[in-house]
Amino acid sequence: MLIQRPPDLKASEITPEAVYLQRRSLMKQALALLLTPSLSQAAGWFDKDEPPSSPQKPLRYSRWPHSLQGERTTEDAVTHYNNYYEFGLGKDEPAQNARGFQTEPWSVVIEGECAHPGRYTLEDVLKGMNLEERVYRLRCVEAWSMVVPWVGFPLAALLKRVEPGSRAKYIAFETLHDPERMPGQKPGLFGLSSLDWPYREGLRVDEAMHPLTLLAVGLYGKTLSPQNGAPLRLVVPWKYGFKSIKSIVRLRLQEEPPETTWSRSAPGEYGFYANVNPEVDHPRWSQAKERRILSGSLLGVERVGTLPFNGYAEQVAGLYAGMDLRRNF
Ligand code: MTE
Repeated sequence: MLIQRPPDLKASEITPEAVYLQRRSLMKQALALLLTPSLSQAAGWFDKDEPPSSPQKPLRYSRWPHSLQGERTTEDAVTHYNNYYEFGLGKDEPAQNARGFQTEPWSVVIEGECAHPGRYTLEDVLKGMNLEERVYRLRCVEAWSMVVPWVGFPLAALLKRVEPGSRAKYIAFETLHDPERMPGQKPGLFGLSSLDWPYREGLRVDEAMHPLTLLAVGLYGKTLSPQNGAPLRLVVPWKYGFKSIKSIVRLRLQEEPPETTWSRSAPGEYGFYANVNPEVDHPRWSQAKERRILSGSLLGVERVGTLPFNGYAEQVAGLYAGMDLRRNF
């Protein structure tokens, strides 16, 4: 299913600059291929024969008491309108191109300033964790948003197990780097070769320890689909969606702020903090409003005012007391 882009929305308004500029410069070469459904498929990155999709398994979880009330984005829209550049540039491409992405076995390296560094299998990570369903908004920097029933556990629960040391001030995250399994990482005609793979993100340790910060393993009661970041992704509901890094294989506790993919490739546009803030515009578009996607049709797109910290100000504004949020955007 393809979610149609509202007619008044220009590509330049919704696409991160690196992607947008690259698309423009490739327009000529792309013309010859425009009749095919997907440029990246036409470029031969992705298997023409579709691999079988990995079936999502049911999860056992309890409900979190403070879930959002109200309408949720349909499962179909959450799983077919994605940003996952390792699997293509178009919103509909990750669902197609990540089909069959193998997530078993999976392990996560935890290293740096902590008492128990090591390589942990996903089973180790999940052992004894109480999975909870938490309905959080995901607000993309491109000015659209969704309301998603995530299933996961607080990142704090994992960090407490490895016991961060006193020098652990930041945490760096990395996505899997495997161009054979993530063809968007291959340098190529339509590759985001300007991005420095693997995808990297970071948080301050107090942000990472905040009870709202989730490591998600599922949504809509089932394990995550590959396009949503299987088997393990971050969800930081008060920050723009690009902070919510997918398919995590490495966490590093460190003293210095980590480099992140977007702050490295476009530092004037995507800051380290990336707190949702209707008063601080993106250099090329306003952040005052958002298009809330509820279903896959145009009727499901409602334009609403963006809330400071994506509506979670009461819980998290204190983390930034005394900071200039215009400078630390
Ligand atoms: N993680 C990785 N590894 N690669 C990506 O391209 N895109 C980010 C974030 N995490 C991205 C990523 C962006 S820009 C957004 S808005 C969210 O994932 C989208 O999450 P969703 O597709 O589950 O809605």
